[in-house]
Amino acid sequence: MTKPEKEAAMSSPLPGAPLSDRGNKREGPAPQGPLEDRFGRSKHKLRISVTDRCNFRCHYCMPEDPQWLPREEILSFEELLRLCRLFVTELGLRRIRITGGEPLLRKNIEHFVASLQPLRAQGLERISMTSNGTLLARHAAALKAAGLDDINVSIDALDAELFEHMTHGALEPVLDGILAARDAELPVKLNAVVIRDQNEQEIVPLAEWAYQQNVSLRFIEFMPLDGNGGWNPQRVVPEAEIIERLRRRFAIEALPRTREPATYYLLDGRYRLGVISTISKPFCSSCDRVRITATGDIYPCLFSPVSMALREPLREGASDGELEQIIREAIWRKGKGFVESAGYVQRAAGMHTLGG
Ligand code: 5AD
Ligand code: SF4
Repeated sequence: MTKPEKEAAMSSPLPGAPLSDRGNKREGPAPQGPLEDRFGRSKHKLRISVTDRCNFRCHYCMPEDPQWLPREEILSFEELLRLCRLFVTELGLRRIRITGGEPLLRKNIEHFVASLQPLRAQGLERISMTSNGTLLARHAAALKAAGLDDINVSIDALDAELFEHMTHGALEPVLDGILAARDAELPVKLNAVVIRDQNEQEIVPLAEWAYQQNVSLRFIEFMPLDGNGGWNPQRVVPEAEIIERLRRRFAIEALPRTREPATYYLLDGRYRLGVISTISKPFCSSCDRVRITATGDIYPCLFSPVSMALREPLREGASDGELEQIIREAIWRKGKGFVESAGYVQRAAGMHTLGG
């Protein structure tokens, strides 16, 4: 996107995006007690990236020529574990999602999953992962044995050529990975980003395939976080349109909203399919997530232009109490979210370092 196009995209209102917020903003320093922000949203889920590297180049996520971070800038498993422990034991988070880049590219990732298990006794309820699936066939059984509860796999097309065009990777290993996870009894959820003039025609085939395989599927609206600046509001296929396409093939019934970011629909009275509509129906008012990059920067929101660094204090001998205070301040200062920015976000960390 050129600069004027980007500016136009930033100022143009998005279809159906309500700009309302929830409640009044509170002032003063971050309080103790459950981790929460000034808008009263408490935090239950931690997304922690273990690597910025990826063997795909999905244009909606990565720049074409990513510069990988030097090894020493990436947090060690010990450092990651210390942060996870703090989030669970001191700050009350109940779910951890391991993300990347591609987390299965990190050597001994199963060991890291296993090292989180003792946190279950302190209140951790779920350990999940988001992966591109390419290496999953060879890791599924070990991840299950290490105590991973579930895995999300991205798959944006069933047409191999289109898949390759979108990801710069091959479809076959991903399909093998999905089936291997199912065989290992590791629950899988599929994520498909829908982009106008690219993969709308894949909506029905993807839903049919997931339905046949009895694997969960969620479509995701294209968010303005891509590596190459190709997003604009016209390229977003809104939830209503995704459902309209599905209606041509399935009987569809909307299910009541839950606390989850996805809206769910029942297809043909038996298959549950989700749509994550960050753009057309932002769910910022109930956001309960915290994100940490592989370098230990804490981002209170996907759309936050600013972060707070945890790596330096970690490496300079900060106490748990000091780290906890930095985290509380970062979260306390969280903005309203996408409802506030409603357009392109310029920030140092790309989507691939934030893990979606
Ligand atoms: N818009 C929507 N979803 C995205 N993801 C990555 N980049 C974007 C984007 N710009 C999704 C991927 C993956 C998860 C990590 O984030 O599909 O499922
Ligand atoms: Fe890699 Fe996932 Fe980003 Fe694609 S979306 S480039 S698979 S991290």
